[in-house]
Amino acid sequence: MDLHDNFVIAIDGPAGSGKSTVAKMVAARLGALYLDSGALYRAVTLLVLRHKLAPGRDTDPIVELLKSSTIELNNSDKGTFIFLDGEDVTSEIRSQEVTALVSEVSENLAIREVVTGRLHDLAQFRSVVMDGRDIGTVVFPAADLKIFLTASLAERARRRHLELQQCGTVIEFTALQEEISRRDKYDSERKVAPLKRAEDAILLDTSNLNSIQVSDRIVDIFAKLSMDLTTN
Ligand code: CDP
Repeated sequence: MDLHDNFVIAIDGPAGSGKSTVAKMVAARLGALYLDSGALYRAVTLLVLRHKLAPGRDTDPIVELLKSSTIELNNSDKGTFIFLDGEDVTSEIRSQEVTALVSEVSENLAIREVVTGRLHDLAQFRSVVMDGRDIGTVVFPAADLKIFLTASLAERARRRHLELQQCGTVIEFTALQEEISRRDKYDSERKVAPLKRAEDAILLDTSNLNSIQVSDRIVDIFAKLSMDLTTN
């Protein structure tokens, strides 16, 4: 990689490991585009719910619907906004109904192929920091830098609880922890593009680090990588 080339940084990990907060910070610091792949799967899940379709049964209608829908990710100073067919669904895709179904929708290969194609289109001709579950393994196996973030289940549930509270969502802590653990298991055990660390991904345990410390580490690793490649 030359410093002037477009680059891809893949940040994967389980729910609540801090991916989106950190990926956003790293993208801003490196002048790259932040892309939240989970937001796309959440938007597809919202489509499935609105049309009362079943992820295991209605693959063809879901894929048809998805192909005729637009999903846009807009980054601004005020945050990242997600639009489904022009409608702002930023809050709705974080609802408990969507969260409860998103893993079932995401294990469908035909749906994943369409979403992965959209992710490639969004990342064309620019530098990107993308977060998700399979970015380093499937979406961008040749990413310039791959990071796998982890943290203890209790810490991840604590962070998500705080995040939801800040948006005014009340959920019992134990129920939230169980939901996260169920989703991790589902995402890790599925046959297609499971949540797993790519062999060449750098593992960062963020249990005792805040998001600034994690983004500092990633920016440092990336700077060193760019330097090594420039001098070699
Ligand atoms: O924010 P959180 O970590 O809870 O989840 P997310 O990134 O919004 O992703 C929601 C769900 O989408 C995950 O639990 C996965 O089932 C799915 N997903 C996926 O399968 N592949 C990705 N690259 C990103 C998300």
